[in-house]
Amino acid sequence: MTERKDDRLWGGRFEREPNVRFDAFQRSFAFDRRLLPYEIAVDRAWAKALEPMGVLTATEVKQTLAALDKIAERAKNDPAWVDSFGANAEDVHHFVEKALVEELGPLGWKLHTSRSRNELIATDFRLFVIDAAAEIQRGVEALLNAFLTQAKASLDVPMPGMTHMQHAQPILLSHFLLAHAEAFTRDVTRLQHAAASADACPMGSGALAGNSFGVDRYAIARELGFSRITANSLDAVSDRDFALDYLFALTGIATHLSRLAEDFVLFASQDFSYAILPDEYSTGSSLMPQKKNPDSWELIRGKSGRITGALLGLLTTLKGLPTSYQRDLQEDKEALFAAHDQVADMLAVATGALASTKFNADRLRAAASNPVLLATEAADYLVRKDIPFRQAHDIVGKVLREAEKHGVSFIALPLEKLKQISTAFEADFSKSLSLDAALSAKKVPGGTAPESVRAAIADLEARLNRKTIKTGAKP
Ligand code: ARG
Repeated sequence: MTERKDDRLWGGRFEREPNVRFDAFQRSFAFDRRLLPYEIAVDRAWAKALEPMGVLTATEVKQTLAALDKIAERAKNDPAWVDSFGANAEDVHHFVEKALVEELGPLGWKLHTSRSRNELIATDFRLFVIDAAAEIQRGVEALLNAFLTQAKASLDVPMPGMTHMQHAQPILLSHFLLAHAEAFTRDVTRLQHAAASADACPMGSGALAGNSFGVDRYAIARELGFSRITANSLDAVSDRDFALDYLFALTGIATHLSRLAEDFVLFASQDFSYAILPDEYSTGSSLMPQKKNPDSWELIRGKSGRITGALLGLLTTLKGLPTSYQRDLQEDKEALFAAHDQVADMLAVATGALASTKFNADRLRAAASNPVLLATEAADYLVRKDIPFRQAHDIVGKVLREAEKHGVSFIALPLEKLKQISTAFEADFSKSLSLDAALSAKKVPGGTAPESVRAAIADLEARLNRKTIKTGAKP
């Protein structure tokens, strides 16, 4: 057997060593070492596949599997070994081959028969995305449970619902909380879509053209837990749509968290005073002793930028790439790993902060009790007296103007005054208008009436338990 000069995965056709700066530039072990457990799982499946292909004997398969297990074990228990042994590994594939050769001698060089790092990295990365999406889904479900707990505890707390940041109509605080929750249920659907998109095994695609040893692609896919194989070898080594799908799902979560954060930052401000920030999720000012700042929410809002950035970065990398594997694709990992880690943290902090937030029920109720929020109900009253809505709207506008002139609430105007504006007003008018009546009236499914909100809570709870989180009941 000819001895190899160095332990690179390539180099036979090169006369000179790579430029030192370039060599550092092209290496990826510093970040793709994170894929080591997946790489080893793929290696195990590949070792088994090499026996029917006539490349490894049964004994060699056994030896290779034992060595791979040993490497996996050591890497798990001894990260310092990964640091030192991996110091001159080009990438995660090179690391395992080096370790395998150290364990097995030249037998270790057989594992890479008829396969390419191009298919390996695509396979490892898909397996990572599938697990990552499941982890983030658990994070979103924890957040949804925090929403449910708060929503159940807030069923008797009304608040002013707003549009254009102007007080509009009363709603229940629970309804507001469930509005945010609903957005996160859509994120679960997107995460599941990303995982499904990653769920196809590229092994057997080779560098780009396929495999000439007749590898059983289905057996490898099954062994790795994939439910499908990729359909086209050229596409398989160049496709990163599963990574885009995952980043899009993460961007959705980050965007929803950022909007939630904005609401809570406002609610905690003195002007609103709707929510009391938990000490555990707030920080103080180095100068102003009275300050308690909503930094947890501000950082969540702030960090959403880098998640969107990761998505845009990968879209930009992919745009204009020729079909097939290109080294540019190595740039798919760092930002995705970082986005995943950040979203995991953002979700954990948001869940903790939400769960420990106390709402100022008195203040919310007082703000919701402004009779002006019942103006639409007043128009509806006239509609029930057979006035066309556009006219009713106009009449109530006049009533509000009249009340403003006298500096009183419009429901306090005497009946004679009201009748001067419209004869449709009767003695039951002022009694028919109340915060509770306005809330109870909205009893359509999806509305803010207490009974609808209770049903929405039960529905979300059931969806969470069934793990089929899809929005909306069928008509
Ligand atoms: N580090 C590479 C990546 O992340 C692995 C595949 C390398 N393939 C190659 N032909 N150099 O994409």
